[in-house]
Amino acid sequence: MTLDASILKDMTLAEKIGQLTMVTAGYATTGPIVAGDVTGALREGRIGSLFNLWGRDAIRAAQRVAVEETRLGIPLFFGLDVIHGFRTIFPTPLAQAGAFDEDLWERAAASAAAEAADAGIDLTFTPMLDVARDPRWGRSVEGPGEDPLVGARFARAQVRGLQGDDFAGEGRLAACAKHFVAYGAVTAGRDYAPVDISRRTLEEVYLPPFRAAVEAGVATLMPAFTDLDGIPFTAHRAMITGRLREEWGFDGVVISDFGAIGELIRHGVAADLAEAAALALNAGVDIDMMAGAYEKGLPEALERGLVTVATLDAAVTRVLGLKERLGLFADPYRRCRGEGTEDAEGKGGRRRLAREAGRRALVLLKNEGGLLPLGEGARRIAVIGPLADAAVEMIGPWASDGKRAPAVSVLAGLREVFPRAEIVHAEGVPLTQDGTDGIAAAVDAARDADCVILCVGEAAEMSGEAASRTKIDLPGSQSALLDAVAATGKPLVVLLFSGRPLAVPEMFERAGAVIACGFPGSEAGHAIADVIIGREGPTGRLPTTWPRHVGQVPIFLAERSGGRPENPADKYTSKYLDMPNSPLFPFGAGLGYGEVVFADLKADVGEAIEASVTVANRGSRADEAVVFLFVRDPVASVARPVLELKDFRRVALAAGETRTIAFRLGREDLTFLDMRLEPVFEGGAFEILIGPSADRARLLSATVRFG
Ligand code: NOJ
Repeated sequence: MTLDASILKDMTLAEKIGQLTMVTAGYATTGPIVAGDVTGALREGRIGSLFNLWGRDAIRAAQRVAVEETRLGIPLFFGLDVIHGFRTIFPTPLAQAGAFDEDLWERAAASAAAEAADAGIDLTFTPMLDVARDPRWGRSVEGPGEDPLVGARFARAQVRGLQGDDFAGEGRLAACAKHFVAYGAVTAGRDYAPVDISRRTLEEVYLPPFRAAVEAGVATLMPAFTDLDGIPFTAHRAMITGRLREEWGFDGVVISDFGAIGELIRHGVAADLAEAAALALNAGVDIDMMAGAYEKGLPEALERGLVTVATLDAAVTRVLGLKERLGLFADPYRRCRGEGTEDAEGKGGRRRLAREAGRRALVLLKNEGGLLPLGEGARRIAVIGPLADAAVEMIGPWASDGKRAPAVSVLAGLREVFPRAEIVHAEGVPLTQDGTDGIAAAVDAARDADCVILCVGEAAEMSGEAASRTKIDLPGSQSALLDAVAATGKPLVVLLFSGRPLAVPEMFERAGAVIACGFPGSEAGHAIADVIIGREGPTGRLPTTWPRHVGQVPIFLAERSGGRPENPADKYTSKYLDMPNSPLFPFGAGLGYGEVVFADLKADVGEAIEASVTVANRGSRADEAVVFLFVRDPVASVARPVLELKDFRRVALAAGETRTIAFRLGREDLTFLDMRLEPVFEGGAFEILIGPSADRARLLSATVRFG
């Protein structure tokens, strides 16, 4: 079958609406299935796409109903949240962002796409591109962190990795950029809450990653559940049709979030399903995921004159176009024929990549006296804590089919790399509940050891959707465990697992070394053990500012100065009575096993600003640096942030090696939005700041006149 333009003329209203209807499959203990009522609806042509169904047999069976038992035989497509892996799980996206490595982001996305495509999937609801500056928001874990430039690069890399040159290609998926837009700015970090931000913040902070995804050719896009200034994104015609399609030239499909069209009634902008359906369709939302609003509301909306057949047809045409581009008209079974094609080598390669990605996501935040690496000679190690032997927790939230693949716990990983060491394990306390009964045994284990590795943090389900927290701390009785173990005085390495920065300054005081691990994925234990023993160095950097206390959030590098910037000697300046403004760790923080020194900042002006620094590894081990380039525009018609990230570069350095890293900044890089939100370049003085993180004290700086 091929897609023929005349198909639209043959379609009944119900069949057209069916193409715009996406439904979730059910689950059985053995895995995902098509629930009985869904099969009936499929047969009647009332469903155009399914999600949460995977495995070639299950997908083939559903596709057969669509192709062979419906009147028109239009194939389905199959979607799934392959957020950081399908079965082989990579680090959580926020942790991956900390690798600051576009090549790795792309390879991980490509690998996940290939594994999912092999299980019959056509499309994934990834990448999640919500800039997040409030760690209370549980969904921070799903995205690229606080910075729009990082978000834009992450977007491009993920779209390239997932879609390749052609998302119909072998092992590729159609991607879906979400959640459009500013979802990360939900009030008080509470999921699904309204959003009230300035137009400037929307333009400068939240939109750039989406623009990058559209420029990279993302196939589909999902509006956020939230509103902006009272207009829910699912009904936001100006943003979806205006900005996305007309201004940016997006020609793909817009898929609503789960039930979001029906929720327009609760938002208070639609009286009934007919109005809700009309608002969404008129805004430019093509597919209704799980609200049943198009099915139940559109016929009436047409009768009441709230939508036109032309608008409906345009949406149906886009959806059929997506199926055509996916190659499904040419061969509806192209991804679900026979058994999977993946050979053992493909699977082995994916595990190796997951191990590499897991390691590259680790951020060493403290390493007093070079406590890490422990080296091959470590003898007696106590591995303590509720996350020490918690393989499944390691894969984090949004783990698709990840529970079916073996995940490696920290304990298992350490036992493999330290075969001759005596490794004692004690859980100490439960992960989320209170309970101190196990602390005494944990303390005994610590006392008998030369070194303690304490594995604490959040349960995987404490971040992700509907997982906001007011306390961003160690849950349950884990702090009591930390206190007791630290009191033994044994060298203490903390491995912190979490979906967000946890504001636990006392932990950083008590431990000799701390690694922020995010959730490293299926190969967690191997990745961590590689770094603990020192076969590999830690190379991750924080993609988000790490607060001392939840009272400081939102906290991020690109604040404006304000008229009374913090001055501890002056009460009437912008500060707290009980705490400094500074974070516990700045954006970009992270140590390696080498000793990297930045020097010799040069900044010359010609057609552009040409800036460079030298980066030297004075240590005795190879290391990597991430070189960050920030700019401050000290005087402009609109106040600019104290630091704006303009570029970053990852550099590998052998022991003793020095490299010069050069950057170029043109007028386009220094353009901002003026009072009318029109792009403007204002020449004058610019401060160029280069260094290892957003900590001003460690940045080299030079002021140049340009333009
Ligand atoms: C709701 C989430 O907000 C979205 O990110 C996800 O893709 C859909 N559910 C489908 O699972």
